[in-house]
Amino acid sequence: MQVFHTISGLRDSLSGHRIQGQTIGFVPTMGNLHDGHLALINQAKQSNDIVVCSIFVNALQFGLNEDWDKYPRTYDSDCEKLRSMGCDYLFFPDDKEMYPNGLDTQSRVICPTMTDVLCGASRPGHFEGVTTVVSKLFNIVQPDEAIFGIKDYQQLAVIRRMAEDLCMPVKITSAPIHRETDGLAMSSRNSYITPEERPKVTVLKQVLEQIASQIEAGEQDFSALESEAKAVLGNQGFKVDYVTISNSKTLQPAAIDDPDITVLGAMFTESARLIDNISLKKK
Ligand code: PAF
Repeated sequence: MQVFHTISGLRDSLSGHRIQGQTIGFVPTMGNLHDGHLALINQAKQSNDIVVCSIFVNALQFGLNEDWDKYPRTYDSDCEKLRSMGCDYLFFPDDKEMYPNGLDTQSRVICPTMTDVLCGASRPGHFEGVTTVVSKLFNIVQPDEAIFGIKDYQQLAVIRRMAEDLCMPVKITSAPIHRETDGLAMSSRNSYITPEERPKVTVLKQVLEQIASQIEAGEQDFSALESEAKAVLGNQGFKVDYVTISNSKTLQPAAIDDPDITVLGAMFTESARLIDNISLKKK
């Protein structure tokens, strides 16, 4: 695996592959790679000749009181994992390479719908940071396909919308949620969960599944389902951010006859903010 710290170095190497007609699959990450990320790399390898991964802890998508400075940076073990997966290129830029004019004056990509609900409501500016860095990364790598995990469902939906709205010549592909054996969705931030709260956090997945099965059984009172789920999370001692039954594409509150519905939840433990989601199977 070749590692590039500069945009020009990576571009020079990739242009050779493009001239030969090879396809490029791309997996953007912030590092601290777990099996979920490696499954994205594997998926990219299945359908592309060349796989590029990026690791960049993007300050633009962190709020002032968020964990940018303590976000786990595990470069050496990340490289080992990527090599073992057969990743071809790692792009590992620093802040100066990505934001040479500074963060404050950086041009932004705004996706006006879908970003002020769900996670966007409690993390103002977060998705603007994500769409900005992802569009920069797309311009740098110019991939044929980019793979994003369904675990960050809102991020995936927003990026799909951005790519569609801005006519970006990249196929956005989703990858299933990777889970620990007890069902907890894998996340780089799971390392924040304390041993005491760890056995209880699977309740988030359980309440979302409960809502999904009740809707599939014909329940139509969505707001009652949301309230019951929030009460269960609260009773387990977690602060609820949201539990929402949403239209899978627009992320607006779902109507009863919406063909595609996703149930999304976010909660705070003492040490972490956890998210999860489940999309209903079409009948
Ligand atoms: O999902 C992530 O790790 C990040 O939000 C992404 C897509 C790499 C952008 O910084």
